[in-house]
Amino acid sequence: MEQKLNPYEVQGDIDYERIITQFGIKPLTKKELDRIEKLAGSIHPYLRRGIFFAHRDLMWCLDEYEKGNKFFLYTGRGPSGPIHLGHLVAWRFTKWLQDVFDVELWFQFTDDEKFLFKDMPYKEIQEWTKENMYDIIALGFDPKKTHFLIDTKHAGIMYPEAIKVAKKITVSTIKSAFGFTDSNNIGSIFYTSMQTVPVFLPNILRNENKPCLIPLGVDQDPHFRISRDVLEKLGHKKPAILHCKMMSPLTGPEGKMSSSNFDKEILLTDNPKTVKKKVNKYAFSGGRETLEEHRKLGGNPDIDVSYLWLQYFEEDDNKLKKIYDDYKSGKLLSGELKALLIEKINEFLAGHQKRREEAKHRLDEFIYKE
Ligand code: TRP
Repeated sequence: MEQKLNPYEVQGDIDYERIITQFGIKPLTKKELDRIEKLAGSIHPYLRRGIFFAHRDLMWCLDEYEKGNKFFLYTGRGPSGPIHLGHLVAWRFTKWLQDVFDVELWFQFTDDEKFLFKDMPYKEIQEWTKENMYDIIALGFDPKKTHFLIDTKHAGIMYPEAIKVAKKITVSTIKSAFGFTDSNNIGSIFYTSMQTVPVFLPNILRNENKPCLIPLGVDQDPHFRISRDVLEKLGHKKPAILHCKMMSPLTGPEGKMSSSNFDKEILLTDNPKTVKKKVNKYAFSGGRETLEEHRKLGGNPDIDVSYLWLQYFEEDDNKLKKIYDDYKSGKLLSGELKALLIEKINEFLAGHQKRREEAKHRLDEFIYKE
């Protein structure tokens, strides 16, 4: 299948080398990782494992940090449905960045975007916004250093900035970046300017000049690729960006997960039995047809979604390597590999769901107050 990757379409087997050239982003190499490790005092498994694989302007951002000009973090969520495991990759990493660098996070909820792009009533989007906020709070962000921006609620401070961005972007730029046509609605053409605002809004609100670092799924990069030149023209700094790969869907290593595929993805609200059922039924296997063949020839962990997913949940590098080797040699069976994944996911979800309940009383601590 042909490769397609932008915020509104992810299709095919994604070739990340090609993305790097196509998007004009830089691969994360040992040089960058060493520098992060030196400053952070540790290195996150998602960096070691190449899950975060590329960046823009990271070195500049770290230079500023070393000079005492701390960056703030910015990322976001389009609230049009339940959160699944794929969404968490960038946010769990963001939480780590907040902890090790002791920095603020601005988290944008793009209820406007989802209203414009999805066939869903406004009211339903508002309900998902609240539901999604619970999950994000449950990830453990520091309420003293985390600010939620909700596009329609914070329109009073965002809109005056968004129009300044919008004035410098043409319709044809947006059309070619996202594959839009003349039948797209006019709100969708404007939207990129809203996603650009949090890059500099904290500086406007506080009369500061801090760098912005955005951890994101690489499919979101096109918004910022468009706005980078504009930002400079408006007297703001371009943001630094850290890009992660798309976690593969449970059903196979191609494309990205979709939350409209509820029954085939693992949601943060799933109970242990549902997780077990979904993994056993849908997790794409790199195992052999028969037990005998598997024992003799071994499985293929590189396409096996249970193995691929364990890279996100098994923190111990040695354990992960042993799983890889045992699966490849045929010592570990597909069913056993799935069981390892199920256990890890359920362990994570048990803690998450408890924190999610607590989060329901805590929205006020996180939503930005003007
Ligand atoms: N557009 C994103 C989505 O649909 C949400 C988002 C807003 C975002 N601002 C962001 C994602 C900044 C990453 C970084 O999910």
